[in-house]
Amino acid sequence: MSIIISIGSGKGGTGKSTVASNLACLLARSGRRVCLADLDLGGADIHIQFGLFEPPRTLTDFVNRSVDDLSEVVVTLDAIHGLQLLVGTGDTLQSANMNFQQKQRLLRALTGLDCDILLIDTGAGANYHVLDFFMAADIQICIACPETTAIMDFYRFLQLATIRKALSGFLSGSEVSNVLRDRSFQTLAEVFALAEALQPGAKQAAQQAMEFFNPLLITNRVGPNARLNQMKLRTLVSRYLGVFLPDLGEVPEDPAITQAQRSYLPVCEYAPQAASAQALKTIARRLGKVVDLYLAKRTPSLQEKTA
Ligand SMILES: Nc1ncnc2c1ncn2[C@@H]1O[C@H](COP(=O)(O)OP(=O)(O)OP(=O)(O)O)[C@@H](O)[C@H]1O
Ligand SMILES: [Mg+2]
Repeated sequence: MSIIISIGSGKGGTGKSTVASNLACLLARSGRRVCLADLDLGGADIHIQFGLFEPPRTLTDFVNRSVDDLSEVVVTLDAIHGLQLLVGTGDTLQSANMNFQQKQRLLRALTGLDCDILLIDTGAGANYHVLDFFMAADIQICIACPETTAIMDFYRFLQLATIRKALSGFLSGSEVSNVLRDRSFQTLAEVFALAEALQPGAKQAAQQAMEFFNPLLITNRVGPNARLNQMKLRTLVSRYLGVFLPDLGEVPEDPAITQAQRSYLPVCEYAPQAASAQALKTIARRLGKVVDLYLAKRTPSLQEKTA
């Protein structure tokens, strides 16, 4: 069973795909079996970053049932340490309007892929597809850029993700779920209050769903005059969303990233000594440790197994 890591941010162009392809590559280089899934519906472009202009298959083939088994869509990149790539779907109506059943089928198939780590790149914005793919993971990574507009988009994205997570505490089809699903909320407190009013004890269920939601933060495009006020952001997120935001690291603004993209390679392969590549290497090492901790928690001890 693989561990699923998603990458999201809310705002477009913050570097989700750049970070995703580099982390996937670095984790694969460290010997893990990694699959990178491009779930940016409509804006899928990760395959281009690897110079794969004519992928044999894409997620569209799975969504429209041309293939039944998701593993048939996977392309293995031998030159990138055997990284497996799940090429995203183009802007087809079928994928953009993916219905609940199609999405559930895709999510089920993703969890069944044969790899150690499944890394999911989500699209820009905070629509339900983005939020659902983001929240389906075991570990979430958020990318924030230092400019003010990016921080506000980031906060809003995290707020919506948090509310969606809280709502997931209720069984679909239950009365609370049915009423909450059709409402829009500005704050988590509103979700908790309405849930409790509908069904005493529901607030606790929503809070429990939130217990393991601790998205990891990566700050991208950091420069001498562009630093993220992490303290401020953390206080905001913890006070208003009740979410702790551990820091995974910073990636500097670096022209080597654009140069690498022109050569259709992740910067960690193209220029391993570049400042951004070094920063991404540190982040990948930290992420590897988080994955190991998660796995150690998830795997029942031998004692538990034999009890
Ligand atoms: N640290 C960086 N230094 C310099 N350029 C960067 C850096 N990170 C990303 N970029 C550039 O920013 C642009 C957007 O990056 P990327 O496509 O990874 O963002 P994205 O969040 O995936 O965008 P979208 O929301 O459209 O999917 C790219 O041209 C990329 O080369
Ligand atoms: Mg992208």
